[in-house]
Amino acid sequence: MPKHFIKQSSVISKRDRPIGIFDSGIGGLTVVRQFLSSLPEERIVYFGDTARVPYGSKSKATVIRFGLEDIHFLLQFNPKLIVVACNTISALALPVLQGKTDLPIIGVLEPAVIRALKITRNYRIGVIGTAATIRSKAYPRLIHRHRPEISVLVQACPLFVPLVEENWLKDKVAERIAHFYLKKLKKKGIDTLILGCTHYPLLKRVIRKEMGEKVSLVDSAEEVLSKSKRFLEKRKVLRRPTTSPRHQFFFSDEVPNFRKISQQFLGRSFIAEIVHL
Ligand code: DGL
Repeated sequence: MPKHFIKQSSVISKRDRPIGIFDSGIGGLTVVRQFLSSLPEERIVYFGDTARVPYGSKSKATVIRFGLEDIHFLLQFNPKLIVVACNTISALALPVLQGKTDLPIIGVLEPAVIRALKITRNYRIGVIGTAATIRSKAYPRLIHRHRPEISVLVQACPLFVPLVEENWLKDKVAERIAHFYLKKLKKKGIDTLILGCTHYPLLKRVIRKEMGEKVSLVDSAEEVLSKSKRFLEKRKVLRRPTTSPRHQFFFSDEVPNFRKISQQFLGRSFIAEIVHL
């Protein structure tokens, strides 16, 4: 067994253990939103590393280190499943994280790719993501592993994450930035665009406006939910609807207006608990 391998033991039934979901900031709430609406009986423990966001501008070694620390934090809640609600960590660190624990860990890349492959008709798929995700080439590699004939056009959009963290979602500034990043991609004739960052679904309106109605947008948050659900069903560990679950939201730094943000994104207001890793 590798040196830092973390073995899980359980005193409460596996069905009642929570699902741990984490991201570098609040972008992973797009994944939480899917869980709350499609698996409402499941208990969620969320961690957002707001003290160190963005991860998308960091090196691979740093993203791996942060990812390991994030998982260590979640392990104290004895989750039955961990969802990496961050494309950057999934692209750069998933195999390392999976090798460190016997817990199932699901990333966001594969589900988004499978969905995009089902949708595309002209075999031209666009991918937008953080600088680190795009630099890693993880998306083109994965797409070509399934279908080598597909053309993959990529574009890093580094200013999208700060826009979301600042809650500037519909502003003219957001539209201008989206135009700047997406105009070239639009000319390349893609029919499917993977939103390769969990922050980006929050900018769907401006992305849709720029790309037009004919391009299908693939939200990795929606796809990771289906994969997680299938996984929980197969292992027979879906929580039974007895009492309503008590969700918890942890952040490594203040999230001003989290009550309002959670109301807006999740349809319910939650309290942010601050922790220091
Ligand atoms: N939401 C994240 C992602 O999916 C990370 C953004 C960042 O921290 O740069 O890539």
